[in-house]
Amino acid sequence: MKETDPVGCTLTVCRDCCCGSRKKHPAVDHDWQLQRLEAELAPAGHRVRTSLCLDVCDQSNVMIVHPAPEARRRGARPVWFGLVLDDAIADDIADWVGAGGPGVAPMPATLELSVIRVPGRG
Ligand code: FES
Repeated sequence: MKETDPVGCTLTVCRDCCCGSRKKHPAVDHDWQLQRLEAELAPAGHRVRTSLCLDVCDQSNVMIVHPAPEARRRGARPVWFGLVLDDAIADDIADWVGAGGPGVAPMPATLELSVIRVPGRG
């Protein structure tokens, strides 16, 4: 394990043609959304990164919570979220990651409503 490897979860935040687009979602402050997720999660050992289009643009903004390495080894898998367009959903994702995320902490029922199933992934 390298020193730069995350000990916690990794949050992938899609930012490309639709996710993060002010043209598509003008009411969302996408930069602030990303900054606050980084500010909340990085100090606790979680990694926040951006990605190019994840090919589910009809669900933008899309985020994926990847389990912490130890949870992954126990069988936890990434969880995809769609329509992350308001602070409440982003807060719920951040809180769940902060609690340990997939394979560690139970997902709040309200957050389950934002889970998306991506054929062949996640
Ligand atoms: S830009 Fe995020 S899924 Fe396409």
